[in-house]
Parts: sequence; C-alpha cells; structure tokens
Amino acid sequence: MKMRAGYSQLKPVVLICIINSCFYASCQLSELQVCKLCKGKIQNDTAVGRFCAKWAGRIDGRCCLGKENTTEHEYILGLDLSNCSLTHVEELHGASTTLIIDLSLNPIVNISDTTFQGFIQMNYMILPGDIVCPGGNTSWQKVEVKKGNRLCEGQKNMCNQTEQQSLNCPENSLCAPYGPGFFECICADNHHGYKCLRAGEFPALQVFGPLGASTVVISFLLWVTQRRKAKSH
Ligand SMILES: *[C@@H]1O[C@H](CO)[C@@H](O)[C@H](O)[C@H]1NC(C)=O
Ligand SMILES: *[C@@H]1O[C@H](CO)[C@@H](O)[C@H](O)[C@H]1NC(C)=O
Ligand SMILES: *[C@@H]1O[C@H](CO)[C@@H](O)[C@H](O)[C@H]1NC(C)=O
Ligand SMILES: *[C@@H]1O[C@H](CO)[C@@H](O)[C@H](O)[C@H]1NC(C)=O
Ligand SMILES: *[C@@H]1O[C@H](CO)[C@@H](O)[C@H](O)[C@H]1NC(C)=O
Ligand SMILES: *[C@@H]1O[C@H](CO)[C@@H](O)[C@H](O)[C@H]1NC(C)=O
Repeated sequence: MKMRAGYSQLKPVVLICIINSCFYASCQLSELQVCKLCKGKIQNDTAVGRFCAKWAGRIDGRCCLGKENTTEHEYILGLDLSNCSLTHVEELHGASTTLIIDLSLNPIVNISDTTFQGFIQMNYMILPGDIVCPGGNTSWQKVEVKKGNRLCEGQKNMCNQTEQQSLNCPENSLCAPYGPGFFECICADNHHGYKCLRAGEFPALQVFGPLGASTVVISFLLWVTQRRKAKSH
C-alpha cells in the first residue's frame, strides 16, 4: 500500500486547463507519443480492440481514443502496448485516463511503483504472468492468471478500505483515490499548507501566475511551429 506524499488543494494540471485552454495542445502532443510508442495498431480481435469497438472509440496506433461530449478534446480510453519489447515501464504520459491497458507479451523486468499513479479509472490490466498487479492483490477486486497473463480487474478504492486505519487523512482534508494502491488527501475548502492546517484564501495568483505565463509562451511557440508546418504542406 502506498501513500502519496503531500497535500494538495488543487491539482495544478487541472488549473492550467481552466485558466488557459491552450494546455490541451501540449496534452495531445504527449498522448500521441504514447500511442506511437510501439509499432502497429490495435487489432480488432484483441482485448483492447473489442473494448474500443464497444465504446465506439477511434483507434490511433496503440491507443483507443474517445471524446468528451462537451469538448472536442480526445482522451485515451484504452492502451494496447502488448508485444512491443518493453523491458521497463516508467512514464505513460497522457494515458492516466485509460480504462484498460494491455502490457502482455513484453519481457518486462520492472514496472516503477509510481507508473500508475493517478490512473483512477483503470479497471482492467493485462500483464505478463510473472508481473504482480500494481499496488498488490489488495488493490484489485479480482486477480487471476490466465493463458500466461496476469489479469487485474476492478480497481479498489483505497479510501474505502475500512480495515486500514492508517489511511485516514488529516482533519480538514478528504481522501480521494489516486490509482491502484494510491490515495491522496485533498484539503477541504479554505484550507491549505502542510496537512491542510492553514485556513483562509489560497494565494492562487501568486503561486500559479508565473506558471500560467510560461504556458502562454510555450503555447504560442507551439502555435507558431504548427503554423509553419501547416504552411509548408
Ligand atoms: C476486423 O478487421 C478485419 C480487417 O482488418 C475485418 O475483416 C473484420 O471483419 C473485423 N472484425 C470485426 C469483428 O470488426
Ligand atoms: C453526454 O451525452 C449523453 C447523451 O448523449 C447525456 O446523457 C449526458 O448527460 C452527456 N454528458 C455531459 C457531461 O454532457
Ligand atoms: C509479435 O510481433 C511480431 C513482430 O513484431 C509478430 O511476428 C508476432 O506474430 C507478434 N505476436 C503476437 C502474438 O501478436
Ligand atoms: C525495479 O525498480 C526499483 C525502483 O523503481 C528498483 O528499486 C529495483 O531494484 C528494480 N528492480 C529490478 C529487478 O530492476
Ligand atoms: C495474488 O493473486 C494471485 C492470483 O490469485 C496469486 O497467485 C498470488 O499468490 C497472490 N499474491 C499474493 C501476494 O497474495
Ligand atoms: C466506496 O464508498 C462509497 C461510499 O461509501 C461507495 O458509494 C462506493 O461504491 C465504494 N466503492 C467501492 C469500490 O467500494
């Protein structure tokens, strides 16, 4: 069982998206990298392929992409990185929205403990048989080994595990799931700082101001380079 260090009031990533819609541009760039990490594309007779057909997703390389009603932003619903000669799995940028992931048929020797931090919706994993489910068996409703693969099904909400007394978040904060084996403590309204002990308005502009400004600059550069590319075609 892992606990995430630190107590956050707002996730900066979300904040950037709210203040500055340009953030979506950089989201999509890194998502594409994950989709192109392995050659080939999702076949329709695989677990992720069938899942994608059911969810009416769009296949792009090794990703199944879906759209949110309200926006045009596409996000990753399914990720199939099977048979891709992966030995280590560390960062899967932009894939934290995925519901299913297939890592079978890879000579994986190590999956970093923090790889699936923030993957709160991931409910089905297919791993090589000798790799344990992230967060251990206790983080999943069902773990089984089938045809040489390990299947981790139904991510458990760590905040619901009443037998784990140590999972209690400090006063003035709420427990929220944060991926298999992880949870986070989010400060309640008007509280911030270490263990959410300080009350009062959060100085949002002071802290996030410079970050917002640099995102604008980066987005502008991206826009310029994209325009150049578009023109040269
Ligand atoms: C899967 O794709 C193949 C061609 O790529 C197609 O012939 C077949 O009908 C598809 N099957 C389903 C169930 O969509
Ligand atoms: C998404 O669309 C469905 C029907 O197409 C609707 O029932 C649902 O409320 C919509 N969700 C949002 C967040 O707009
Ligand atoms: C794995 O990929 C190789 C080529 O990259 C291919 O020859 C082989 O059939 C694939 N295996 C499976 C089970 O898809
Ligand atoms: C796997 O990675 C962890 C750190 O993420 C490291 O401590 C451990 O030694 C690694 N194990 C192997 C077999 O490489
Ligand atoms: C986890 O579950 C699998 C499959 O049921 C089992 O083989 C394995 O021994 C379990 N591991 C632990 C540490 O309990
Ligand atoms: C966690 O608890 C909430 C409220 O008590 C409940 O609605 C939810 O179904 C529980 N989730 C799981 C995975 O047990």
